[in-house]
Amino acid sequence: MADDSIFLGASRKPDNTYQQAESLLLKFGNRHGLITGATGTGKTVTLQVLAEGFSKAGVPVFCADIKGDLSGIGAKGEEKDFLVKRAADVKLDPYELGASPVIFWDIFGEQGHPIRATISEMGPLLLSRLMNLTEAQEGVLNIAFKIADEEGLLLLDMKDLQALLVNIAERAEEISARYGNVTKPSVGAIQRSLLVLEQQGGTKFFGEPALKIADIMRTGTDGRGLVSVLTADKLMMNPRLYSTFLLWLLSELFEELPEVGDPDKPRLVFFFDEAHLLFNEAPKALLTRVEQVVRLIRSKGVGVFFISQNPLDVPETVLAQLGNRLQHALRAYTPREQNAVKAAADTFRANPDFNTFEAITNLATGEALVSTLADKGVPSVVQRTLIRPPAGRIGPLTSDERQTLINASPVAGLYDEMVDRESAYELLQKKAEQMKTEAEAKQAGEADSTSGWSLPDILGGGKSGPRGGQPRGRQTVAEAAMKSVVRSVGSSLGRALVRGILGSLSRR
Ligand SMILES: Nc1ncnc2c1ncn2[C@@H]1O[C@H](COP(=O)(O)OP(=O)(O)OP(=O)(O)O)[C@@H](O)[C@H]1O
Ligand SMILES: [Mg+2]
Repeated sequence: MADDSIFLGASRKPDNTYQQAESLLLKFGNRHGLITGATGTGKTVTLQVLAEGFSKAGVPVFCADIKGDLSGIGAKGEEKDFLVKRAADVKLDPYELGASPVIFWDIFGEQGHPIRATISEMGPLLLSRLMNLTEAQEGVLNIAFKIADEEGLLLLDMKDLQALLVNIAERAEEISARYGNVTKPSVGAIQRSLLVLEQQGGTKFFGEPALKIADIMRTGTDGRGLVSVLTADKLMMNPRLYSTFLLWLLSELFEELPEVGDPDKPRLVFFFDEAHLLFNEAPKALLTRVEQVVRLIRSKGVGVFFISQNPLDVPETVLAQLGNRLQHALRAYTPREQNAVKAAADTFRANPDFNTFEAITNLATGEALVSTLADKGVPSVVQRTLIRPPAGRIGPLTSDERQTLINASPVAGLYDEMVDRESAYELLQKKAEQMKTEAEAKQAGEADSTSGWSLPDILGGGKSGPRGGQPRGRQTVAEAAMKSVVRSVGSSLGRALVRGILGSLSRR
């Protein structure tokens, strides 16, 4: 088989006999793609076939495993009759079975290596989306980030952001004067959203060690690309976290990778399952950003494949950039479904041999309408294609199999323990403590100034000095401590000494 392409399967003639091999050219792997189809029509297996193909060609892959069944890519497939038959139907000879090298990741750290990002890497735009903030609240969050920047406060985890927000609420007036409206209620609203996020797993996700992009771009010693499989079954219950996370990853890739022009194969391919979650209710600003990233990431050698039930799930502007398309069967019972099928059919370059609309509704399981970018990057005429059987297992790994692979993974030990280095939370806490001490010391100083700072007076049992005589509040600890020092020294030297100890106290 050619090594400049991934074998997808074989197209069928109108009489349903073998026509020709269909493949995806590796050099157009960064021109993105789309896998669509109703439930149970073969999307995940097609994704697996593509991921296996890229991996074999030395291209690392990142994909989300929504139902757990993609994990089978990490195990050798079995020679089942229906698979052997299909291999023969598509003239896949030899039909080699085998496992792909995988790294399992899991935001919750349960079914894979923990995957983390820092708050500052996530940035205010994505965080606002994650917390579903209003525009006004987003503005406040932007200011918070700016302040953290200016004051050298590292935002790594949730408690850093919490601490920063508390600090900002306290300084609301001063900050508003400098940056515009920051009200206590708006900060409070963000804090509440942050609490919700915390309960949804944010505490695990935000922190260090944060994911290094290089770790999802690994190739093995045998030259195969590693397949990063993100366990997403639990993650899916929080669609916003799921989509924001993947979006973050995409923008990280975009920002960190250098331009490569048009490589002979992608540097990384990214599969975005349940893509509609990305676009559902996404605010305009975010959509624009997704479109931009998808358009521009191509020149960084990164291919993005979206997987969804219907092409209409993907906004027009993004859809237009997806060069390689694999459309599994869709139903067309209701008028709405018929419209969707029509829209899907219209995205293909028609084949005179069949009606695209009808074909989409008649496809068998594991069969798809396929159009890939051919020479010069022109979409090929659509072909009704029987997809090849994968080399790995169809269906999930057992938890033992998974654990074995996790233990043996090349990133084992790199991410498993969370570290908590000094960042905004710790610094603000220190600052708060310092300020408290200072304030107390100052109070103590003032207290003593009322007694004129005169040693004889202090030693003489607190008789009123020049401005003395007012009743005093309770002694603070610092105040008491200072006085006891003064007492014990009991000389004019004592005063200088005390002042030295409480250096920052200087009253002028
Ligand atoms: N290329 C293929 N070769 C052999 N069998 C296939 C192929 N594609 C699909 N199948 C069969 O069809 C079943 C369903 O496919 P798959 O799980 O990929 O569907 P799906 O579209 O991902 O469904 P869902 O939307 O429910 O996730 C597979 O378990 C497998 O038995
Ligand atoms: Mg599936």
